[in-house]
Amino acid sequence: MTLSIKPIDPVSRPFFAGEVSGIDITRPLTKEEAAAIEAGMDQYGVLVFHDQHFTDETQMAFSRNFGELELATNNLRDTKEQRLGVHIADISNLDANNNVLARENRRRLFSLGTRLWHSDSSFKVVPAKFSLLSARIIPSAGGNTEFADMRAAWDTLDEETKAECEPLVCEHSQLYSRAQIGFGDFTDEERRAFAPVQQRLVRTHPSTGRKSLYLASHAGTIVGWPVPEARAFLRDLIEHATQRKFVYSHKWSQWDLVVWDNRATMHRSRPFNSAEVRDMHRTTVAGQRSTMAEAA
Ligand SMILES: [Fe+2]
Repeated sequence: MTLSIKPIDPVSRPFFAGEVSGIDITRPLTKEEAAAIEAGMDQYGVLVFHDQHFTDETQMAFSRNFGELELATNNLRDTKEQRLGVHIADISNLDANNNVLARENRRRLFSLGTRLWHSDSSFKVVPAKFSLLSARIIPSAGGNTEFADMRAAWDTLDEETKAECEPLVCEHSQLYSRAQIGFGDFTDEERRAFAPVQQRLVRTHPSTGRKSLYLASHAGTIVGWPVPEARAFLRDLIEHATQRKFVYSHKWSQWDLVVWDNRATMHRSRPFNSAEVRDMHRTTVAGQRSTMAEAA
């Protein structure tokens, strides 16, 4: 095995965002290779692999080294628009006929919520462990994905704020994140499906024991707090957590695969020319239990 993992920016961020070389992850892995990648994820939070020519099948097979896959059915309920299989989240600007979505398209406007900092599936009772995003077609410019190290965000809070955060429980929903960009075009069924779920604000990583802030634009309330006070508090925390020194901005090449640990990072997408095609396929490894159960 010649797999090697190095920090992408050894000067500014030696412990966050690694680049992996010396391995073809589109073919079946040995137990040792899978364990080395999982250990790299624990250390770096984000791993970048280049030149991995995945199909949906091989991407799912690679992803299953790290746990069960989430169903990609947490978006809008227009199943007739579904372009990909049930385990592949369609992170594209394409319709079922592979045409670029119109500017006013409801799915496109909803998907603009990914421009806000978030952690995938924090609006599910059992939120995601890893997300794995494969770049199939990329635009000529823009469309970076940015990642923030939520362990560093926690470590650098002052003791008073840490003590204030520690017991808090937030409520997460896609209704809250979309409200921030002025999107409210939901059916009654979607509003029911997107009912808020509770998540601890501070979580401890099950493998490393490191604490991190568990934040997302999906977090809209803090249990027991007045809403405006909660939102102002959460906004301050997100500002702290997303200072440039904690952020890695990934500029995509075709066939990159980027894997991130949603328990230790936040991420957001960056704009690109919406007339161009951007076709990314995401698999998502489910977490083991809710953050409420984790803390108990
Ligand atoms: Fe995301």
